Amino acid sequence: MTSQIIPVEPFDFIAFGGTGDLAERKLLPALFQRQQAGQFSEPTRIIGASRSKLSDDDYRDFARKAITEHVKAEEIDDGELDAFLQRLSYVAVDARSGDGFADLGKAIGDSTRIRVFYMAVAPSLFGDICAKLKEHGLVNDSARIVLEKPIGRDLASARALNDQIGKVFDEHQIFRIDHYLGKETVQNLMALRFGNALYEPLWNSAHIDHVQITVAETVGLEDRVSYYDKAGALRDMVQNHILQLLCLVAMEAPASMDADAVRDEKLKVLRSLAPIDPDIATKLTVRGQYRAGASAGGAVKGYAEELANGESTTETFVAIKAEIANWRWAGVPFYLRTGKRLTARASEIVIAFKPIPHSIFGAGAGRVHANQLVIRLQPDEGVKQWIMIKDPGPGGMRLRHVPLDMSFAEAFNVRNPDAYERLVMDVVRGNQTLFMRRDEVEAAWRWIDPILAAWEDSGVEPQGYTAGTWGPSGSVALIERDGRTWHDPA
Ligand code: BG6
Repeated sequence: MTSQIIPVEPFDFIAFGGTGDLAERKLLPALFQRQQAGQFSEPTRIIGASRSKLSDDDYRDFARKAITEHVKAEEIDDGELDAFLQRLSYVAVDARSGDGFADLGKAIGDSTRIRVFYMAVAPSLFGDICAKLKEHGLVNDSARIVLEKPIGRDLASARALNDQIGKVFDEHQIFRIDHYLGKETVQNLMALRFGNALYEPLWNSAHIDHVQITVAETVGLEDRVSYYDKAGALRDMVQNHILQLLCLVAMEAPASMDADAVRDEKLKVLRSLAPIDPDIATKLTVRGQYRAGASAGGAVKGYAEELANGESTTETFVAIKAEIANWRWAGVPFYLRTGKRLTARASEIVIAFKPIPHSIFGAGAGRVHANQLVIRLQPDEGVKQWIMIKDPGPGGMRLRHVPLDMSFAEAFNVRNPDAYERLVMDVVRGNQTLFMRRDEVEAAWRWIDPILAAWEDSGVEPQGYTAGTWGPSGSVALIERDGRTWHDPA
């Protein structure tokens, strides 16, 4: 089965941080895949921009290496790769001094083609780059800017950053990326909810007992000390990815798939999140930090041991019991958890329905489990609807809990595109549905800020957990206190 490719208009893609990790691992491979799929129209150009002094050919070498390392060999057509590299050029720019921006202007020329400025750089440079783009007259009506997270480290800094960017670009030109929204199964959540009559009548507190969202990783700190140790899991994963998933689970049906229709509904969810004030933060949140253990098949160091000074109070794990204070969800807990160096890389959303009101089956039939809908984001994307059936065979009436299982890999013989492929093409198309609006980002921080403050004020250090486990004991206690258990995503 092949998916339908709708070509986009020709565009100029200017990658600030063009020689960085994101460009190497994600952007160049994603752009290459979209060209190879036939989605580009001519003339489309890609301009790498960063501080290093490189020639166009040096940059093409960098891109060739990036693509051959990050795209499977069997997916690369050599002719397509050569053609892709011919689109590339490079300009050395310095965001602080402004050196090179005149050259960038010359390289772009005065075309009115769609112009994408992609900020694959530290957020501290966003403001300077925007100012320089404006100064050099590079921001026209067909320009758009893509911002990578983090957008701030709290509400005040997010506002300041949004203000800076808003001086140069209109909101309709600003694409705040959350790559989780580009994942296939995340978009499938909307298809599942709003493309079927089956679930929506049950999607509320009358029928749903609770919701679990787990984003578990096996990786640790990687090479990101300077960013991660100042951020921690709450800022790195919950403020953005997990809250976005929660919004898609909890929002009302938007009037259409228009960007603002969808984002208005997500915003209402964020605004309905019950605040976690300092007096209840210790009861409703758990923070952890991994200690030495075994992960992904080998012995690994503890988080603090990976740091130069050997100490840190940054959390690498968070679990939260959240509540959405509105008519649909009042009384339904949303248990959220994410962590590094956990047992497995697995992200999923579990919708746990209420049990049947009364069982007509005797004790011999076995336990009647409540239905669960498990939406698996990665790996092995798919949806499992757990139901009760009669155990086959001539014996008595015994019941069995089984999944109606739809694994996407098995059901559709298509390559699962990386989230960036979808998102980068949406930027070119000018479709903001899968990008965060300013008010959404700020509403998410408004809910996160008191949790950060409570942790800081309490001075309580994160609970240790052994690398390769499902996190600290406090996380188990958080849910078991309510008579529930975490779904095992392994
Ligand atoms: C990033 C975080 O946004 O998402 C990383 O900064 C995290 O810490 C990553 O590892 C996870 O993304 P994915 O797509 O691998 O689940």
